Amino acid sequence: MKFFVDTADIDAIRDLADTGLLDGVTTNPSLIKKAGKDFIPLIKEICEVVSGPVSAEVAATDYATMSEEGKKLAGIAENVTVKVPLTPAGLKVCKELSDNGTMVNVTLCFSANQAILAAKAGAAFISPFVGRLDDIGYEGMALIEDIVAIYDNYPLWSTEVLVASIRHPQHILESARIGADVITCPPDVIKKLYGHPLTDNGLAAFVEDWKATGQSIL
Ligand code: E4P
Repeated sequence: MKFFVDTADIDAIRDLADTGLLDGVTTNPSLIKKAGKDFIPLIKEICEVVSGPVSAEVAATDYATMSEEGKKLAGIAENVTVKVPLTPAGLKVCKELSDNGTMVNVTLCFSANQAILAAKAGAAFISPFVGRLDDIGYEGMALIEDIVAIYDNYPLWSTEVLVASIRHPQHILESARIGADVITCPPDVIKKLYGHPLTDNGLAAFVEDWKATGQSIL
């Protein structure tokens, strides 16, 4: 399972890249607004820190402008993944860019029907938003199960299921159980995976006992 971080905060990205466990980055216009930096240079900087896929989202909603934006974003770095919304225009751009060898992440997916269309359009990634579905009383993880099962029926489709809008570690655990390809989530949710009180207590005891032996390994 690949781990992407869902942020445009370059310090947080550097911090996570340093763990050696980070496989990619996703951004969206809201995260760019939060970062308060110029979009294109920021994506370039992120691509220099992380060698895996870095999603940069188009801003337009019409086909012609979106297509131009997509080509421009794809030119920033080899690992840029152009992110397009799940609309007829977005999927047209997805097909066009994918046919030309650009990775495309289709975002704002809320149904299995939409995920089928994205796979047909050659998307590298489909991003179903589990947290936003949970927020309105649907079962976000049920959608992931459905999409993974459907994609498994068609081995020639190469679209990876990228679980997005993750709110807590349970979403990651469930994604792993289902066999989703990728998760993307805020830095603090990834960090929560490390935590367990028995690890903290156990380590404190080992440190104390080792000190009492008076020995040194180095
Ligand atoms: C994914 O690519 C999206 O940027 C993101 O996961 C959306 O998450 P949110 O619902 O917490 O805004």
